[in-house]
Amino acid sequence: MSYPETSFFANTPEETAILAQDLASAVSAESSTEAVIYLDGDLGAGKTTFSRYFIQSFGHTGSVKSPTYTLVEPYELSEVSIFHFDLYRLADPEELEFMGIRDYFGEGNIALVEWSEKGGQFLASPDLVISIEITSTGRQFSIQAKSAKGARILQNCKCA
Ligand SMILES: Nc1ncnc2c1ncn2[C@@H]1O[C@H](COP(=O)(O)OP(=O)(O)O)[C@@H](O)[C@H]1O
Ligand SMILES: [Mg+2]
Repeated sequence: MSYPETSFFANTPEETAILAQDLASAVSAESSTEAVIYLDGDLGAGKTTFSRYFIQSFGHTGSVKSPTYTLVEPYELSEVSIFHFDLYRLADPEELEFMGIRDYFGEGNIALVEWSEKGGQFLASPDLVISIEITSTGRQFSIQAKSAKGARILQNCKCA
């Protein structure tokens, strides 16, 4: 089964915000806001920048810091709980088991996961995979749906 994918180019962080807001409203439009989104790309690609705008789109007004040392940062918002992961410093995927990772997925929650490849078998499979590449003029986003839900989200997105 193949799911749709699309691409988006952002010259500036402000243009990244447009994509993040667009995807956030497409997730919001789902009857259940539950979603797992992986963010791939090198250090400095813009994974946290995307996450910041995405989380703010759900009404968060404070800062969004990179959860590099905490592994996960929770945002309990009016509409949904968002868990922002950064697994860059994860030494052993088993640590995810010890922190009760399963409880973070499902239940109408959204998970944003930076460095998902470090999570091994313990992560829920993604609905969307967003890959960000640094180019000389900005950031190239490739957005792939990986589930029926991800496909619906992409279809409801202006970026599609
Ligand atoms: N189009 C763009 N989108 C996102 N960030 C950009 C863009 N252009 C430049 N940047 C800069 O790139 C950096 C991205 O950092 P960050 O989001 O922390 O990356 P990551 O989480 O992937 O390591 C920020 O300093 C941001 O200002
Ligand atoms: Mg980051």
